[in-house]
Amino acid sequence: METKDPTIESVKEFYGRAAIEPQASLCCPGGYPAEETSHIPREVIDRFYGCGSPISLAGIAPGETVLDLGSGAGIDCFIAAKKTGRGGKVIGVDMTDEMLEVADRHRGAVSESLGYSNVEFRKGFLEEIPVDSKSADLITSNCVINLSPDKRKVFREMWRSLKDRGRIVVSDIVSDREIPEHLKKDEQLLGECIAGSLTESRFLSYLEQTGFYGIEVLDRKYWKSVENIAFYSVTVRGYKFEKSASCVYAAQYAAYKGPFKFIIDDEGHVFPRNQAVEVCTDTALKLSAAPYSGMFIITRSDSKPDDISCCTPDGGTGCC
Ligand SMILES: C[S@@+](CC[C@H](N)C(=O)[O-])C[C@H]1O[C@@H](n2cnc3c(N)ncnc32)[C@H](O)[C@@H]1O
Repeated sequence: METKDPTIESVKEFYGRAAIEPQASLCCPGGYPAEETSHIPREVIDRFYGCGSPISLAGIAPGETVLDLGSGAGIDCFIAAKKTGRGGKVIGVDMTDEMLEVADRHRGAVSESLGYSNVEFRKGFLEEIPVDSKSADLITSNCVINLSPDKRKVFREMWRSLKDRGRIVVSDIVSDREIPEHLKKDEQLLGECIAGSLTESRFLSYLEQTGFYGIEVLDRKYWKSVENIAFYSVTVRGYKFEKSASCVYAAQYAAYKGPFKFIIDDEGHVFPRNQAVEVCTDTALKLSAAPYSGMFIITRSDSKPDDISCCTPDGGTGCC
């Protein structure tokens, strides 16, 4: 699996070395508390090069399928393996042989400690993720997207791999302003997750342009400054919702409960506090589920909006 892309080749070499010899200088802010990693061998923990704790913030439910991109020595995958439980599945994808070797070598010890085996590592690129479409409930990545030469493609691939109603929770380094060309060409700064960073606003707008909605910055920490550019570690969550071909207006209304005077969703619908706004079946579904659960009263009325009857989150079948 070779590529002609010089950025990819440089990053692969960099992390090949970091897999063999741990690099303390690569450790960014954030990470996992000891109680989350007690079932993970030291060699893996020493090769943690993430910049956040997406697995802790993702609210993983037992039985979920988690796809971790740029899985490195496997720490995020092994933590996720405990949270998904025996009935869940975790797939780690990385392009660097040396990283995959470390991760794979410790799979047995982790499954022995957990009492089950549910982690698999695959060799592949983020720009061409080696999984079926719509196969993951959750996609995570920890300090990896900044390393890709084609970030829009990575976001598109995440969208493809995610199930409808799935979510992504990704930690990455972002900058507060554009990075000048001479820094972008610095291979050491690229490997250190600095030179390839997007600005924070571009990172969020790429997610939006890909189609993710309900985007939220769950965590944000200052990392360091280089030539007066400030770099931050952020952890961001976003959701996938595929519009159905059969979305219709079926006398469904959404009333935003507050506390803000009004809010606007990703599609531009304005919801003044405590006012029933007519919504289509897709929007009613979206507003009934995470990340909006509990924020709206979804009602159905065949006559007028204040003649309300409560509906279930599956779009109103089974109104009470
Ligand atoms: C900064 S390390 C983070 C590793 C791991 N997520 C952790 O938290 O320890 C980045 C990892 O992403 C992998 N990587 C970088 N760019 C990649 C790409 N385009 N496709 C696949 N893997 C990539 C590298 O091989 C490396 O293992």
